[in-house]
Amino acid sequence: MTGPEDDLDRIMHVMELAFAPEYGEAWTRRQVSDALLLPNTRYGLISSNGDAIVSDADQTAGFFLSRSILDEEELLLFAIAPSFRRRGLGHTLLTRFIEQARSHGMTRLFLEMRSENPAGILYASHGFRQVGVRPGYYRTTDGLRIDAVSQALDL
Ligand SMILES: CC(C)(COP(=O)(O)OP(=O)(O)OC[C@H]1O[C@@H](n2cnc3c(N)ncnc32)[C@H](O)[C@@H]1OP(=O)(O)O)[C@@H](O)C(=O)NCCC(=O)NCCS
Repeated sequence: MTGPEDDLDRIMHVMELAFAPEYGEAWTRRQVSDALLLPNTRYGLISSNGDAIVSDADQTAGFFLSRSILDEEELLLFAIAPSFRRRGLGHTLLTRFIEQARSHGMTRLFLEMRSENPAGILYASHGFRQVGVRPGYYRTTDGLRIDAVSQALDL
């Protein structure tokens, strides 16, 4: 059986593998557990075979975490563990996020990413368009400044 605490473990497992440490993008367990307590937070998990997670036997490959305000939803975290990439799982998970948001009556989706993150190719293929740039918003552990790019998708 899966429950919220199991799902938190699954999210953190992928979190630890998926985000490059130099960008400081990964959230702590505390940040995620606090977010999950909020009523407007949603998340989704994907297993290595592309299905939802239904039992402990399923291997977690990725997750998303989002937050809605009125009829707009922001994708806060989105990741596939490195060993499961380039098999279409990111595409499947993003499709699920968009469909779930639509089914909850959302009319606009947002996300923010590092400029030049290859994830942008995936987002663009689902119709996300750039709506803003925050120059030098991210700072790497080496002190490098990287722009943040905001993207939106009207549903
Ligand atoms: C971005 C991410 C979720 C993509 O997951 P994925 O399962 O590999 O994505 P998919 O296999 O569905 O890729 C779909 C398409 O996106 C594009 N794409 C994905 N990763 C890419 C990469 N590293 N370089 C170039 N294109 C890429 C390709 O067009 C790909 O299609 P193709 O494999 O047929 O060429 C994954 O690389 C990841 O978790 N990255 C680290 C966390 C992160 O940066 N998240 C986004 C924060 S905003």
